[in-house]
Amino acid sequence: MDRYLVFGHPVRHSKSPFIHTLFARQTQQELEYGLAEPTMDEFARTLRDFFDRGGKGCNVTVPFKEQAFALVDRLSPRAKRAGAVNTIKLTDDSVLLGDNTDGAGLVADLKAHGVTLTGSRILLLGAGGAARGALAPLLAEHPAEVVIVNRTHARAEQLAAEFRDLGSVSALTYEQLAGHFDLVINSTSASLQGELPPLAPGLIHADIAIYDMMYGATDTPFIGWAKQHGARQTMDGLGMLVEQAAEAFTVWRGIRPGTKQVLRELKRNLG
Ligand code: ATR
Repeated sequence: MDRYLVFGHPVRHSKSPFIHTLFARQTQQELEYGLAEPTMDEFARTLRDFFDRGGKGCNVTVPFKEQAFALVDRLSPRAKRAGAVNTIKLTDDSVLLGDNTDGAGLVADLKAHGVTLTGSRILLLGAGGAARGALAPLLAEHPAEVVIVNRTHARAEQLAAEFRDLGSVSALTYEQLAGHFDLVINSTSASLQGELPPLAPGLIHADIAIYDMMYGATDTPFIGWAKQHGARQTMDGLGMLVEQAAEAFTVWRGIRPGTKQVLRELKRNLG
């Protein structure tokens, strides 16, 4: 049977085996999907071993996405732009192809929620790996503008400069932010420390769409905060998780699974 797995550390609570098992059942594909939790030093060797022993593909999550980027034989254009790999496929000619489906997953989930990206003014919070992965797929939708804001402003400047060839993207400080935004995407890891990005509440209005890449059984701190200041449409990152997985499954198997039912089941399990 074709074998796939997810590399991460920690990875025990990963939802990827659950998601891909449901995708396989739904599309009648014969495959098994497991977990691998190597240390940073063991990652390269375990990855090689997996493919030497007949593995067909894998997902890569925190903290291995940059190492995977450096280890694969070939990169997809979107992985090159993201500077990170979350999906690896062994091609028919035995090449390890590194891809990145995170940004596509975000855009697919935003669209599934009916959010208009074309012509909109988007505020992206954070300038780490998650923000980097989102930029090219967002700019491909032709927003009016993407503004990046980050606690460490220089990182936002750097990121904006790297993506300027793809569309209108600029960097501002939290203090400089003003005007009307249609969509705010939180890519920061602030909630992991129980913190909030220092966003002025005045930027939130009833018609703004709020997306937090984090998710949980209850509202994330950022979503709770945005609701408190009047946001009516809020979305967490569970949909992005399922959509990036669907994109990876499509890369591996050449067949696109439906996501709605899987998302419903995941939500039921969380709650
Ligand atoms: P990831 O790969 O998940 O994006 P990362 O590269 O460590 O992780 O980036 C985390 C992002 O969250 C960064 O933009 C970070 O800001 P800095 O560049 O200033 O470190 C942002 N971040 C983390 N904690 C934050 C907080 N409490 N408030 C605001 N931004 C925060």
